[in-house]
Amino acid sequence: MPKKYYIETYGCQMNVADSEVVASILGDAGYEPVKDIKKADLILVNTCSIRENAEQRVWGRLDLFRSEKRKRPQVIVGVLGCMAERLKEKLLDSDKMVDMVVGPDAYRDLPMLVSSAGEGHKAVNVLLSREETYADISPVRLESNGVSAFISIMRGCNNMCAYCVVPYTRGAERSRDPHTIVREAQEIFAKGYREITLLGQNVNSYSWTGTETDNNDFPSLIRRGGLRQPAEDGVVLSNSQTLSIDNQKQINFPRLLEMVATIDPRLRVRFSTSHPKDLSDDVLHTMAKHDNICKHIHLPVQSGSSSVLGRMNRKYTREWYLDRINAIKRIVPDCTLSTDIIAGFCGETDEEHRETLSLMHEVGFDFAYMFKYSERPDTKAARHMKDDVPETVKTRRLNDIIALQNQLSAKGKKADIGKTFKVLVEGKAKKPAGAMMGRTTGNKVVVFQAADTKPGDYVSITIINATSATLLGVRRD
Ligand code: 5AD
Ligand code: SF4
Repeated sequence: MPKKYYIETYGCQMNVADSEVVASILGDAGYEPVKDIKKADLILVNTCSIRENAEQRVWGRLDLFRSEKRKRPQVIVGVLGCMAERLKEKLLDSDKMVDMVVGPDAYRDLPMLVSSAGEGHKAVNVLLSREETYADISPVRLESNGVSAFISIMRGCNNMCAYCVVPYTRGAERSRDPHTIVREAQEIFAKGYREITLLGQNVNSYSWTGTETDNNDFPSLIRRGGLRQPAEDGVVLSNSQTLSIDNQKQINFPRLLEMVATIDPRLRVRFSTSHPKDLSDDVLHTMAKHDNICKHIHLPVQSGSSSVLGRMNRKYTREWYLDRINAIKRIVPDCTLSTDIIAGFCGETDEEHRETLSLMHEVGFDFAYMFKYSERPDTKAARHMKDDVPETVKTRRLNDIIALQNQLSAKGKKADIGKTFKVLVEGKAKKPAGAMMGRTTGNKVVVFQAADTKPGDYVSITIINATSATLLGVRRD
């Protein structure tokens, strides 16, 4: 009987992608996933450290796992990911009965660590790597809808934003070999997936430099000269008419994006996350050139105030950010925009907060993730700045930001009424009964009635109404 493992994932999409790598490594070692903790021999939690409440949630889950371990002492409990990296052996010292602590660059070591933990040793590997990208591992899509998948294209982060724990938990930036990215995208397209999201903490700084030998095993999937004829039933790995990266030793993000977009016009391509300091016009022109590159950019602004951005070490100003937004509106006119905003960073004044609100107005974001600043140990802000905005003020400012974003989102959705979108069907909608749901190129969720569609189909939908989170439409084709 293969051993059974249960895995829970917290945090960003990168973590979801990492859990898929973990599933592949464990699968190769003879482990089988189960959805019921009670049936698992191995309980894993892939964790996030970005804000204190993200860690609190995991501590709560560890309480539950501990009670399971009391009932079945042979069960192995492992903490993976960013909290493992941040807290290291401290996790083993806690009274949570953790057996294994594995950082984000050490997943290849999992089978060995599990057997060591099985023999009663505490198992730890939190070494960060300068090279590891898990390039050769085919992720096992655990919670997939069969239509959209994430592909991790780089790991780590070199940006050193003052508030952020990521450079410490995920180490230095490194880019994955583009051959393996294109191959993975082709394989999942052939399996019926129709949308991939290229993932990295800062995708625009993707940069890969090849060597002579790198091209040897690459079946020249795409050669300069345009799109291949789409095959009836998926991708044909042929050598004809393909865009080769032979002789192109330096691949940057726009080139990678283009290589993936050229696999097949029926494959939608998204990417996340972009850093405003290096979102180039080159990326925008590549987006404009290919219909299947989705017209949506997630461009975290964090604050609308240049002085706050300076303290955050974001390396751009309000004016720079607005210039990038203008470039997007000029080069990719129908592009939707989303962002991340932090309320109440160290020293933030009411005036600086109002600058964030005014920037939100000026840009008109379609969507935003909004947070209160949460001090993270050992970051530059924790070491050198005072977390001096009172909690009540942080809450009030966050509420201002949320209220404004609700208005902007509603306005954006109202403006879609009457428009017709090509929607990629993802599955059944939660409600109303019998309805289907999918997404526009701009990443807006659309609910519609169409009994004869299935996940992976493209349908043409005219928007007739909108709720706060969803567009409601009727079929046109
Ligand atoms: N406190 C609050 N929000 C944070 N983020 C990152 N670090 C912190 C922190 N210490 C937010 C940023 C980032 C998103 C992923 O999380 O907005 O873009
Ligand atoms: Fe959380 Fe950041 Fe780690 Fe993702 S990279 S899991 S957001 S701390």
